[in-house]
Amino acid sequence: MLPKAIQKIKVPPVKCQGIKTKLVPFISESIKWEGVGKWIEPFLGSGVVAFNIQPKRALLADTNKYIIQLYKDIQSGKIDSQIVREYLLENGELLRKKGDDYYYQKRKEFNEKGGTLDFLFLNRASFNGLMRFNSKGIYNVPFGKKPERFRKAYITKIANQIGWIQSLLSITDWEFMVADYEKTLSNAKENDFVYLDPPYIGRSTDYFNDWKEDDAIRLAEITHCLPCGFALSMWKQNKYRENEHLKSHWNGHTIKTFSHFYHVGSNEDLRNAMTEALVIKTGFENTDFSFNQKVIPKLESYQINLDL
Ligand SMILES: C[S@@+](CC[C@H](N)C(=O)[O-])C[C@H]1O[C@@H](n2cnc3c(N)ncnc32)[C@H](O)[C@@H]1O
Repeated sequence: MLPKAIQKIKVPPVKCQGIKTKLVPFISESIKWEGVGKWIEPFLGSGVVAFNIQPKRALLADTNKYIIQLYKDIQSGKIDSQIVREYLLENGELLRKKGDDYYYQKRKEFNEKGGTLDFLFLNRASFNGLMRFNSKGIYNVPFGKKPERFRKAYITKIANQIGWIQSLLSITDWEFMVADYEKTLSNAKENDFVYLDPPYIGRSTDYFNDWKEDDAIRLAEITHCLPCGFALSMWKQNKYRENEHLKSHWNGHTIKTFSHFYHVGSNEDLRNAMTEALVIKTGFENTDFSFNQKVIPKLESYQINLDL
């Protein structure tokens, strides 16, 4: 099942911090896995990696209950592309008429009731499409100041993304679970493959991304005892420093790297290089170098901006 060449990456209906859209081909081409067991992703986030790799069986989990509920609701048929389209047409129109007031009313409702459709709406209407929760788990992103955002073409794009997930879920055996990674990893069996994409150490103050050095060390210890193959995404190096945690806790495995640039602000000339690492349990790395060289671009330039 892996390695797999993915030419066209598809984007899921929600975005999150640290989304790996641009790294999907690098990940799917670097791993060797038969696909006999389950693909296990304890830090699912947007789901972009699993949704593009498309394993037959998967266990997809995250502590962010809103993301998991979205995918569970699509799976159960509670929401579908038509329901999303109608909801966004109606609420987009109200946003256009009432602006700020409507956004903050929806945000309040979401924080009280936590509905999936409201979650989707806020994810798109908020500032920069950010998903951020304060230390008490309250969604606190301000309005994106674009009351005209929900035009027909934009709504169709979102409805199509929901339709894509719907069709994937109808042909796969995937389980979604709200869980801490430790619980998810306790399910791993010999033929499974675990892909880990934890939050950046000490970077975020977000409720669902509180991740300290101790958490990272514990994850490394647990992962080393897994009965199956695994891969872990982590930044390796930027212009200013190297990731010491990677050196001290993930030594002894295969490390593949992917370098790219991100633009600083809106200035095209100010570019910073970043090297991402994929730590792969030895024996599960793709060693077909001709395959790698054909498909993986060595250096890619892109803007760190959420592609809404
Ligand atoms: C870097 S993001 C994953 C991004 C994802 N690979 C993507 O491409 O969209 C990290 C995710 O881990 C989740 N998370 C943070 N702490 C967790 C924990 N202790 N157990 C499980 N999930 C956790 C966050 O909610 C977030 O969705």
